[in-house]
Amino acid sequence: MRGGGLHFHFHLWLVFLFALTAASFGLGVENQSVRCIAAERRALLDFKKGLTVVENRLVSWTSEEEECCNWIGVGCDNSTGHVVKLDLDAMFTTGEIGSSLLELKHLSYLDLSSNHFHKIPDFIGSLSELTYLDLSGNSFTGFIPHQLGNLSRLLCLDFSRNSLSSFIPISFDNMPALQRINFEGNNLEGGIPKSLGNICNLKELNLNDNKLSGSLGVVVKNLSGCAKDSLEALNLARNRLTGALPDLSILSSLRKLSLSGNQLEGPLPVSIGKMSQLVLLDVSSNSLHGDISEAHLFNLTKLQKLLISFNSFSFNPSSDWIPPFQLDYIDMRSCSLGPQFPSWLRWQTTLSYLDISHSNINDASPDWFLNILPSSLNYLNLSSNKISGSIPNLPLKFGGFPLIDLSSNLFHGLIPLFFSNSMVLDLSNNMFSGPLSFLCTTTMNIGLNYLDLSNNLLSGEIPDCWNKYMILTAINLENNDLSGIIPNSLGSLQTLESLRLRNTSLYGEIPQSLENCTALKLLDLGDNKLTGIIPPWIGERLDGLNVLRLRSNEFHGNIPSTLCRQQLLQVLDLSLNNISGDIPSCLNNLTAMAHLGSSMALIPLAGITYTVDFIGAIGINFHEHLLVVWKGFEREYGNTLGLLKSIDLSCNKLSGKIPRELASLQGLINLNLSRNMLRGSIIREIGQLKSLDSLDLSTNNLSGEIPESMSGLSFLSMLDFSNNNLFGKIPSSTQLQSFNATSYSGNPGLCGEPLRKCPGGEPPKVPNNGGNEGDEGLFEPLWFFIGMIIGFLIGFWGIFGSLVINRSWRHKYFQLVSKLTDWIKLTMALMMVKLQRKLRLKE
Ligand SMILES: *[C@@H]1O[C@H](CO)[C@@H](O)[C@H](O)[C@H]1NC(C)=O
Ligand SMILES: *[C@@H]1O[C@H](CO)[C@@H](O)[C@H](O)[C@H]1NC(C)=O
Ligand SMILES: *[C@@H]1O[C@H](CO)[C@@H](O)[C@H](O)[C@H]1NC(C)=O
Ligand SMILES: *[C@@H]1O[C@H](CO)[C@@H](O)[C@H](O)[C@H]1NC(C)=O
Ligand SMILES: *[C@@H]1O[C@H](CO)[C@@H](O)[C@H](O)[C@H]1NC(C)=O
Ligand SMILES: *[C@@H]1O[C@H](CO)[C@@H](O)[C@H](O)[C@H]1NC(C)=O
Ligand SMILES: *[C@@H]1O[C@H](CO)[C@@H](O)[C@H](O)[C@H]1NC(C)=O
Ligand SMILES: *[C@@H]1O[C@H](CO)[C@@H](O)[C@H](O)[C@H]1NC(C)=O
Ligand SMILES: *[C@@H]1O[C@H](CO)[C@@H](O)[C@H](O)[C@H]1NC(C)=O
Ligand SMILES: *[C@@H]1O[C@H](CO)[C@@H](O)[C@H](O)[C@H]1NC(C)=O
Ligand SMILES: *[C@@H]1O[C@H](CO)[C@@H](O)[C@H](O)[C@H]1NC(C)=O
Ligand SMILES: *[C@@H]1O[C@H](CO)[C@@H](O)[C@H](O)[C@H]1NC(C)=O
Repeated sequence: MRGGGLHFHFHLWLVFLFALTAASFGLGVENQSVRCIAAERRALLDFKKGLTVVENRLVSWTSEEEECCNWIGVGCDNSTGHVVKLDLDAMFTTGEIGSSLLELKHLSYLDLSSNHFHKIPDFIGSLSELTYLDLSGNSFTGFIPHQLGNLSRLLCLDFSRNSLSSFIPISFDNMPALQRINFEGNNLEGGIPKSLGNICNLKELNLNDNKLSGSLGVVVKNLSGCAKDSLEALNLARNRLTGALPDLSILSSLRKLSLSGNQLEGPLPVSIGKMSQLVLLDVSSNSLHGDISEAHLFNLTKLQKLLISFNSFSFNPSSDWIPPFQLDYIDMRSCSLGPQFPSWLRWQTTLSYLDISHSNINDASPDWFLNILPSSLNYLNLSSNKISGSIPNLPLKFGGFPLIDLSSNLFHGLIPLFFSNSMVLDLSNNMFSGPLSFLCTTTMNIGLNYLDLSNNLLSGEIPDCWNKYMILTAINLENNDLSGIIPNSLGSLQTLESLRLRNTSLYGEIPQSLENCTALKLLDLGDNKLTGIIPPWIGERLDGLNVLRLRSNEFHGNIPSTLCRQQLLQVLDLSLNNISGDIPSCLNNLTAMAHLGSSMALIPLAGITYTVDFIGAIGINFHEHLLVVWKGFEREYGNTLGLLKSIDLSCNKLSGKIPRELASLQGLINLNLSRNMLRGSIIREIGQLKSLDSLDLSTNNLSGEIPESMSGLSFLSMLDFSNNNLFGKIPSSTQLQSFNATSYSGNPGLCGEPLRKCPGGEPPKVPNNGGNEGDEGLFEPLWFFIGMIIGFLIGFWGIFGSLVINRSWRHKYFQLVSKLTDWIKLTMALMMVKLQRKLRLKE
């Protein structure tokens, strides 16, 4: 009892104290620096209760810390102490946005962006003091609540990057102060309500990356209330807007306009030339067409960014045209700009981004061209034209590391030194010549990420200075006139994911230093004169390989069993070498091939992404491509390479049997073991390779029958069993009979469709007897003898003859068997067989 009383008193005392301090804080008397209002602090603590905060980012939000104005993310008015600002951006927070927020009667700034909230609370419309509301980058679904329309003081509204759906609410009539609306990156549908166009202060409207539909003409009409004079930025990119481009010049203040990635059609209206405030115009990726003339651009004196790619525009101003603008960003990919090199570019001296790839230019690169490139250049793409000329070795120094893509042109001459200071350097498919020494002039290179010099006339050795490159991801030198050895310093490239040195006349062994390139996904050293063994460390150290292509070299020795550790390997091509020994039976450990399907069609390499204001994220993605011999043809696989699962060991000196374990590689699409010295029979379980599309076992010493399970390979479209010692009846299936007879030729013992008829008719079905191919069973079932003697009786001496010679052929010869009812024939047969056996045993 006493204790209880004491406790009670103590409690009272506490309450008293609390009231006193709260009052003094409110008045700001006792502790000037505590401004937090108790009721608001409680509201914040209540609000916190609804949240799940990962990593406890709100650790300062506790009842022990009285000054809630100092809590992380909380801002108070300096004179009144009211909480006016709540900024919980990227707090890794989820949970419920509790209505205790309503207690913060003076809250004017609410930022809950980049968290994981799911539901926009209905009461949000009652936070009537809000001027700034940012709920972007959460997981909000459902409607945009119409109650928002009550936030009459709101200046800035950001719901971008959520999963909001349905229509944009019509209720913007009570939001006269609004200046910025950002709904980008949701699933909004329908049109853009007229009420938005009636917001007289509206400066910025971002509705890009939604599913908005309707005609652009009506959209512009809807926006032509009083917003037409205030709107400075309008982003409608990547929606489903249709129709022709209307006269956009009624949006008289517009500075930035993006309409890219819609379904707009028709020409670019000349009226666009009246939009004298335009700084950025992006109409790329539509179905627009027609000529763009000087008149279109006449008054665009402030234009800096012009994006018209992926339409069917042609733009051929007269050669003495001096543009009224200085552009820093030009994206005219796939426009028709040629055949002359666009001479107006010489006046554009502040370029940071220039893409005139694929634009029908068939001309020499003019002398002035490289001189206009400023050191601030980020991106230069002239690819897929017919631009010729050489590139002088300018004293050009880029500020950053630009992306330079001159691929698929007619450039010739030496590669200039300054190119080594790029991030991406793609000069493939040109006629560049001379040595690769430009690569060694740099000191430490922290920029070069992707290097493609393939298909040129480069000569000399591959230089040994790769240790200067810190972040190289991909090297492609294939199809050049190089020679020499693979340099050791390549081993210092720990970020290297792709190394392609195919067809570069390399000799010598694979240097052991490559074992340190543990990030490799693709290694293609094919079509060279490399010697030595296939080093076992490839399997041990390079365990991320998707593709290993050593085709057409002079490798000898065995296939190292360590290759079986390559759990991600999808393409293994060791064909056309001098490799001997057995096929390792551990190949069933190649997990990627053992699984059906593939997670992705592409084999991606580390890409580059950067974001340009208003234009969005620009992703430069690299993915692998590869020459693969499949179905008898060498083809380039790029977009579907990730789907291919292939083993090609053809044209070697492999001996022994086909390991039964191979049958567990159920994802395998292509298997080529032809032109080796394999013996034994085709594994009975081959029917388990359900994905197999192409199977070539030709020109080996394989014997025995074609397994019945083959008839289950329903995807098989290419088959070659020719030039072996197979015998018996080709199993019946729609697939196996559809192949050309040449698929089976050179096997004198084979019969049945599509070859000649087998003797007799259908054999009786016989249950499997455990399958011990190659071993000679001691007991042959009755049908076996029946079949044999039928052949004998009808006069197939050829077959019977080889039967005697080749002991293993006797085994399971049931395909030649037919139902026999004639007991006399059977008896005769048995006698004849036994006779034959005795004769043979005597030999
Ligand atoms: C006033 O409050 C601050 C912050 O809560 C605290 O650090 C300080 O000690 C207090 N001063 C007095 C005199 O109570
Ligand atoms: C309140 O005062 C602090 C420090 O004196 C200052 O940094 C802050 O901007 C002021 N806040 C407001 C809303 O006036
Ligand atoms: C919005 O305002 C209207 C009247 O102006 C009122 O009826 C309604 O209750 C308000 N809604 C909210 C959520 O405050
Ligand atoms: C135009 O505004 C009306 C009225 O707000 C709306 O119903 C319609 O969907 C809008 N159309 C387009 C194409 O934006
Ligand atoms: C360019 O602007 C001037 C002045 O604003 C105007 O008179 C002229 O008509 C405009 N020309 C074109 C082609 O839009
Ligand atoms: C350059 O343009 C071509 C064709 O337009 C494109 O395929 C290539 O990816 C571009 N290069 C870079 C580095 O972006
Ligand atoms: C190999 O490279 C040479 C150029 O060095 C080229 O002419 C030839 O066509 C290439 N061969 C193959 C098979 O790609
Ligand atoms: C691989 O890297 C390790 C550690 O950096 C180094 O000790 C080793 O010598 C390298 N191996 C070769 C063959 O260069
Ligand atoms: C199978 O792969 C695993 C993982 O890479 C490896 O540890 C194991 O040694 C492999 N087995 C064989 C028989 O190669
Ligand atoms: C291939 O290997 C065998 C030994 O396995 C050797 O005798 C022969 O010379 C090699 N052939 C070539 C072309 O390297
Ligand atoms: C198998 O490999 C050989 C030799 O490399 C080639 O000629 C043949 O076309 C390949 N077979 C198939 C089906 O691709
Ligand atoms: C079978 O293939 C050979 C060689 O490819 C060809 O000449 C012949 O016409 C083909 N026969 C049939 C029936 O398709």
